Formats: sequence, C-alpha cells, structure tokens
Amino acid sequence: MSKEFDVHRIRKDFPILSRSVNGHPLVYFDNAATSQTPQIVIDAIVDYYCGYNANIHRGVHALSQEATDAYEQARYKVQKHFNAKKAHEIIFTSGTTHGINLIANGFESLLQKGDELIVSALEHHSNIVPWQMLCERTGAQLRVIPMDNDGALIMNAYDELLSERTKLVFTNHVSNALGTINPIEEIIEKAHGVGAAVLIDGAQACPHIKPDVQALDVDFYVASAHKICGPTGVGVLYGKEDWLNKLPPYQGGGEMIAEVTFEKTTYADLPHKFEAGTPNIAGGIAFGVALDYMNAIGFNEIASYEDRLLQYATKKLQEIDGLIIYGTTSKKTAVISFNVGEVHPYDIGTILDKLGIAVRTGHHCAQPIMDFFKIPGTIRASFSFYNTEEEIDVFVNGLKRAVSMLS
Ligand code: ALA
Repeated sequence: MSKEFDVHRIRKDFPILSRSVNGHPLVYFDNAATSQTPQIVIDAIVDYYCGYNANIHRGVHALSQEATDAYEQARYKVQKHFNAKKAHEIIFTSGTTHGINLIANGFESLLQKGDELIVSALEHHSNIVPWQMLCERTGAQLRVIPMDNDGALIMNAYDELLSERTKLVFTNHVSNALGTINPIEEIIEKAHGVGAAVLIDGAQACPHIKPDVQALDVDFYVASAHKICGPTGVGVLYGKEDWLNKLPPYQGGGEMIAEVTFEKTTYADLPHKFEAGTPNIAGGIAFGVALDYMNAIGFNEIASYEDRLLQYATKKLQEIDGLIIYGTTSKKTAVISFNVGEVHPYDIGTILDKLGIAVRTGHHCAQPIMDFFKIPGTIRASFSFYNTEEEIDVFVNGLKRAVSMLS
C-alpha cells in the first residue's frame, strides 16, 4: 500500500468490517448497493438522539435550535461538497429516487404532447420509470440514447436525438450495473444547445467522484447518502435556483408553506418549498459528517486507490475460464459485472455468501441493460476505498470454488 493511502488504518474506522459472516471474515463487495458506515457517522446519529433530538425550524427551545443549527450546517456542507452557488439550491430528500420523482412531478405542468425527453440506455429503473409515468400523463415521448457492446453510450446517436422538441435529458453519471462513467459534460452542453434541461443521477458517481455542479452547469443533480458512507433514507437534490423557483412543490404539508387559509396557500421560499413534513434530521446531520469524512481522505486518493483495486480484480477474474465481464470501457468506476459460462448468477452469489463474501446478483434494477446483453443478470462486485487486494484474492478463490461446484 502507498504511504499516503493507509487502507488498514481506514478499515479501523468501520466497525462492521471486523465481523464474520457464516464463519468467515466479511468481504463486502456490495458497495454500489450500500456503502458501509464509519464510526464517526454512527456517532453523529447517536449524539443527535442522545443529546438534542427535537423537530427543526419549529421550536424556540434549546433542543430545537440546536437540531436546526446542526441540520442547516449539514446543508452548507452538502452545498460546499457539490459546489452549489447557494445553500437553498440544496434540497434534502429521502434519496436519489425521491429527487428524480420530485423533478419528474414538477415538469408535468411544463410539458405537452409532442415534447421529447431523452434517457440513456444505461439507466437504473429509478431514472426510467418516473419519466415513463410522466410521459403517460403528458403525452411526451421518451427517446433512448443507445449503448455499444462495451457499455458506452453512442454519442453520435445522441446528437441525432436532440432537437427543439427535447425538453429534458436525464442520465446517470455512472452506471450502477456496469460502472461506465458517462460523458456528462458533453451531454449537458449539447442538451443546453437545444434549450433542454438536464438531470444527472449521481448515485453511483458520488462514492468515487466529487461533482462540481457549477462547472458542469447541470440543472439538477441527485444523489443518496447511503452510497457515500452516510445513512439510508437521506439524499440530496441540487437544482439551479431559477429552475427550483419555476417548478411547483412536490408534496404539500407542514414546513413548505408561507401562509395557509382555506381559500389559498402560498408556499415557502427555497429550500423549504420542497421539504414538506419532518425530515430525516439525524440522517441529514450524519450525511454532512460522512462528506467531511470522505473529503478528509480525499476523492483523488479514493479514485486512484479504487482504480488499482479495479485493475487488480479485473486481471485476476480474466484468468477464470468462461468468465465474461460486462462493461468494458476504459472510463469506469470500481465495479465489475460478470457471468461465468452458463452458471446462474444467483447460485454463485449464494455460495459466495456461505464463504462470507457479499456481492449483488441479478438485474441490478437495470433490466434494459440485461436485455441488451441477452442475459438474465450478472454477478456484480463493487469495490470501495476500504477494500483490499487481499479481499479480492479471497473473492477470486471463492468464485473459483463456486464455479467448480456448479459446473
Ligand atoms: N441501486 C443500488 C444498486 O445498484 C441499490 O445496487
């Protein structure tokens, strides 16, 4: 290990990494589904409930003030992390899916029959289904940027799809199923060229890449805390102020209003207009701590260490007869999706679990990608900065054992 990146010291920050599963030390390679949580983030949740559990923005009492301050401090941390111009462009959500649905709902009043929305072929269901539902309600059409056999988007085809009918383009920054890093700078610039807005699903990018929403000039960027060492049930929607002011609220309720009478309700200013009801207060505060934690390690350091893991694992896996990797572009994060011969991914995943190795198997909520490759699913090993080459050796040996048992 390099001197700068002491993975063994980092691992000590994560209590779960020292547990066993089925009598074997845990090898956790399902990070694309949920990252593990460092003690400092767990402590932030415990501190909130032990010390200042109260509702925010509502009370004059000390606990409510402390909780409000901590929650709004977390918003500043998220703003700084994503380099948003203004704190009120940061909306706390329950996760990426919530953020996408919020925007899809908001666009309903802006679309009409004949308008077009462009989606990429590499999407998670959460960045397909809300838009299909929106198309059903508005008569807009969904167009798809196709992918090639390496799992990269065919950008010439994107050029041909764009027109004055295009109102919104949405794609992930990184594919959850394949790890492909999409050329979002080009996607955004070209969409803006025809006057379309762009939403980027950053759920799988944010564990590896620190996005700069101003440099990207993106209109909306969504992500989840639980992929970035934070808790489940909290996420972020960044939106440009002008867009967020233009869109109607998503949910009605407490906190999002300016004034309510039975005749008419007026809405609160940003960000509260989009934050109806009591939010996940402890989760938001812990999200801020998770970002502090990852920034202290450094995203450049994380990306280069994870790339080493990716190269190491790819080389080892390619030595296994009949193993096919899906997603072979040079620009990818530390995710390897694969199958071995005709063996069903689920069977391999089950044997790996018996050996204490956690991977995800199946369609990864990305059925169109599986259809493209004409497979029911894959085995997906997704690495994080707290994984090691030794764990990859354990995984590859376990895989070889599983394959020999099942072939
Ligand atoms: N979207 C998450 C994954 O890819 C759950 O596993």
